[in-house]
Amino acid sequence: MSQRYGNIVGWGKYLPERVLTNADLERMVDTSDEWIVSRTGIRERRIVSEGETTSHLAVEASRQALELAGVRARDLGLIIVATSSPDYLTPPISSQVQHALGAKDVGAFTLVAGCPGFVYGLATAQQFIASGACDTILVVGVEIISRFLDYTDCSTCVLFGDGAGAVVLQVSNQPSGVLSFVLGSDGSGAQHLILPGGGTKAPPTHETIEAGLQFLRMDGKQVFRFATRILGKALKQAIQQAGLTTDDIDLFIPHQANRRIIESAARYVGLPQEKVFINIDRYGNTSAASIPIAITEAIEQGRARPGDSLAFVAFGAGLTWAASVVKLGPPTTPLPVDRAWLNRLAWRPLSAVGAGLGRAVAAISGSVARLVGRVRQG
Ligand code: ACO
Repeated sequence: MSQRYGNIVGWGKYLPERVLTNADLERMVDTSDEWIVSRTGIRERRIVSEGETTSHLAVEASRQALELAGVRARDLGLIIVATSSPDYLTPPISSQVQHALGAKDVGAFTLVAGCPGFVYGLATAQQFIASGACDTILVVGVEIISRFLDYTDCSTCVLFGDGAGAVVLQVSNQPSGVLSFVLGSDGSGAQHLILPGGGTKAPPTHETIEAGLQFLRMDGKQVFRFATRILGKALKQAIQQAGLTTDDIDLFIPHQANRRIIESAARYVGLPQEKVFINIDRYGNTSAASIPIAITEAIEQGRARPGDSLAFVAFGAGLTWAASVVKLGPPTTPLPVDRAWLNRLAWRPLSAVGAGLGRAVAAISGSVARLVGRVRQG
């Protein structure tokens, strides 16, 4: 195999059952459904229940992705978990996910890059595959931001939701997978989106808790300005680096932070509305989980199909940003919607399907031959 590409062969998502609507928030803080919908596009979000952990969400999404890919956890070469809201500061959540999946001894690490963490993870996984270091990698984006929200602060608590998404990348010689990526960071904007307490700078004490340093703080206007300035440019760069034009992009799957920010990025590169995937209305901002959740839904809904070129873009705490163009594996058979086993078949190269069928036919004819032989002997 000359060139090694990392093709997406499995995808999955997990959203907690509990729904928190704008109407629920109207009863908790000084806000209104009209304000939230018009400023952000969010109507409801999922919030974990007591006892649910980030690793639990990650494992549920990962199991789906592995099942669709037809990959056993222990056959993975690497696990990358992108999150800013792990179960513990240490040990890393990636090892808990690895253990819970039964991926015995598989290397795993946690990637912290704010909301673009999943796109950073995809770009990293692609390097491991291209170099020949690994053949199959699980990349997860997962968050429980709700545990860091102050539900008396209407400027942050209406924006975020919890969830997880995962994909499996597998080596392929077809030009597919991560075609380009742009990664960026500007730490001068750190204070615009920050969880000030709990780290080494302000370890938890009675004083830090009383000052509310355990809650996420955001200067919404600054973050909004930064996002609208950076996203369109990063997206354009990623499309150009992939050797494509805007017209070649079949679906734009942006980080779901704010509908107005998404529309501004799409306008900047000239992408029409029908090529933009939006689910922020149902899930809010799920940070590093938002793009893999959206990828999974886009495929399930038949909006992203084999052979399609997808463009991703995200921004977040750091401040950070990332954009990437990813091509889904080549079309083999038509992709049915929401049928796991057929999805799996559709996404496999024809050769693999052919080989599988060949093995099945050989096994059946072998059994028939043995049976006939026994009957004859009898
Ligand atoms: N309900 C009602 N009023 C509110 C609410 C609320 N939930 N939140 C803020 N307001 C008020 C403000 O106090 C302000 O009142 P004032 O004019 O009397 O001072 C007024 O609404 C307008 O506030 P603006 O900041 O001008 O509103 P804006 O149109 O900028 O929208 C928003 C605010 C939605 C937060 C926007 O700035 C934004 O989306 N910023 C980016 C945030 C983001 O994406 N963060 C996450 C990125 S990183 C990650 O994903 C983890």
